[in-house]
Amino acid sequence: MAWRNTLLAVSGNERLRSFVSSSRMTRAVIDRFVAGESAVDAVRVAGDLAERGIYSSIDLLGEDTAHPAQADEITRGYLRLLERLDDAGLSGWAEVSVKATAVGLALGDEGEALAADNIGRVCAAAGDMGTTVTIDMESPDTVDATLRLVSSLRDRFPWLGCVLQSYLYRTDADAAAMAGPKARIRLCKGAYAPDPATAYTARRDVDAAYVRSLRVLMASEAYPMVATHDPRLIDIAGTLARRFGKGPGDFEYQMLYGVRADEQRRLADDGHRVRVYVPYGDNWYGYLARRLAERPANLVFAARSVLSR
Ligand code: FDA
Repeated sequence: MAWRNTLLAVSGNERLRSFVSSSRMTRAVIDRFVAGESAVDAVRVAGDLAERGIYSSIDLLGEDTAHPAQADEITRGYLRLLERLDDAGLSGWAEVSVKATAVGLALGDEGEALAADNIGRVCAAAGDMGTTVTIDMESPDTVDATLRLVSSLRDRFPWLGCVLQSYLYRTDADAAAMAGPKARIRLCKGAYAPDPATAYTARRDVDAAYVRSLRVLMASEAYPMVATHDPRLIDIAGTLARRFGKGPGDFEYQMLYGVRADEQRRLADDGHRVRVYVPYGDNWYGYLARRLAERPANLVFAARSVLSR
């Protein structure tokens, strides 16, 4: 846990960022977890996944945007990405994941309205081409505003997905409140530094909370999106789905690009709906720091790939 908190704490440090950006080891980690720098790379990966019967949710990397112009640029990046996906015939296979702080949420008093406006633009384009959007969940201080954004936009875009993090104490109540008919809810453990005042810090408590919320979602008419690589939780999801009569079209498994590709294929081959979260772009630093924090073995992988060259 100390290791994890240190990595998450330095994830915003600019000097460290430029140091690691120049290392060969970093390149190996980026190549494993990020589809590439451009939308062309992301669309290519989404196409490869679709050929194997796997769906994708594409994230244009970026967070904590500091200027309205940057928020607008990221929004337009998503609009261009959606156009490319449509042109490639992938609108039935790929949706997009958006971070509210990437499109303006962190910009002071006006931030929430700006983010709602920008996400609304992305949702309108996604809806026109027949696909969906999911709003990622970020650090604990953004949770209230992000859930407000989602519920205000769901009037116009009922398919708008949101994320609940099982490490937060509040998630039992949020899952129960949000599990309405067809509500698209991605359940994950939570990737940001947990504050013991608001979140479980012990792995077994986070896992137990995950199972509780999963049970609530599976028992409801919601559309659970089971985002985990944890074999035990994947098993439990299957058992709960059977118990509550949820078939392959009533929920989906989600995993990250570069993680457990064999398991993604196995679940898809077994007839389950599987979606892979595919990040792209050059603003990869925070995303990578979270991947290393949740699994130090990812660093070992990186070191090994450099040594074997
Ligand atoms: P955890 O990391 O606890 O691992 C449990 C077990 O899974 C391991 O013991 C191992 O058996 C297996 N495993 C994990 N990684 C493996 C690997 N590389 N190879 C082999 N086995 C492995 N977070 C957030 O805060 N907001 C968000 O919006 C999202 N969105 C999101 C989308 C999707 C699709 C996913 C999969 C995850 C997220 N997350 C997220 C991240 C999430 O909160 C969490 O940090 C990671 O998924 C890691 O947690 P796991 O549930 O995978 O288990």
